[in-house]
Amino acid sequence: MSFTFNGQVAIVTGAATGIGRAAALALARAGARVLVVDLQPEPGEITAAQARDYGSEASFVQADISHADQVANYVRKAVDTWGRIDVLMNNAGWQGDITALVDYTDEQFDRVMAINVRGTYLGMKHTLPVMIRQQRGAVVNTGSLASYTGTRMLAPYTASKHAILGLTRATALEVAREGIRINAVCPGPVDTPMLRDIEAAQAPGQADTLRQRRSASIPDGRYASPEEVANLMLYLASDLASHITGQGIQINGGSHG
Ligand SMILES: NC(=O)c1ccc[n+]([C@@H]2O[C@H](COP(=O)([O-])OP(=O)(O)OC[C@H]3O[C@@H](n4cnc5c(N)ncnc54)[C@H](O)[C@@H]3O)[C@@H](O)[C@H]2O)c1
Repeated sequence: MSFTFNGQVAIVTGAATGIGRAAALALARAGARVLVVDLQPEPGEITAAQARDYGSEASFVQADISHADQVANYVRKAVDTWGRIDVLMNNAGWQGDITALVDYTDEQFDRVMAINVRGTYLGMKHTLPVMIRQQRGAVVNTGSLASYTGTRMLAPYTASKHAILGLTRATALEVAREGIRINAVCPGPVDTPMLRDIEAAQAPGQADTLRQRRSASIPDGRYASPEEVANLMLYLASDLASHITGQGIQINGGSHG
């Protein structure tokens, strides 16, 4: 067993920025051919170009992961281009409004669920048949500390991240005998654009103070970098994790979820 993705094909959703971009670039460095999927074309194309700079084949597909036809399209693109899919990183996500549940609009609730839950479900639904034909594959879904604990003003996001753990655990059982593993990576705070948006909404004008206080409450005293989370995602997708499936693995500097 070794830590290489040479000859493998990986799809990473939400790879225009943050954790997804770090994972796409780490996969490219490790030898994978990478399909970068995101809503945002400009930074998505930049991720793909950076991946090619590592000598990897990489392209970008614009998709809203909450729409079945767009998910089917990115899966088709990977298979038409490279003939197989070894790794799916179901990573795109959205925090929604930072608002008390009683003030939440039903439309916002549905949108958070559509992106985080339906997007993860659709990614697996359309990719697993390819992996089953191959009798090989690994899926890494992006959960969160919010897969285990509650956070004020983030009830729909919290519910969606709990659901990702449920999808991971149940679907892993369905394909465990098909050579396919499905796990979830569950980070605490990670220094990305999403977290900066959340901090700005939670503490208008005082986001830096909130950030310092929150960092200090983490046992190792800091947020994760996107690259640290990507390292765990690659490990879970690699053959080194060959007996790990159906798990949520936390990465949070020692916090207890
Ligand atoms: N940053 C954190 O502290 C943190 C902690 C735990 C979990 N997470 C999770 O990590 C994942 C990545 O988040 P990040 O922090 O890198 O945030 P980010 O905002 O930097 O990246 C999220 C990406 O997902 C894309 N995206 C959003 N909705 C989409 C859709 N409908 N279709 C396709 N792409 C879409 C965005 O365009 C963006 O590029 C998310 O699932 C998030 O919930 C983040």
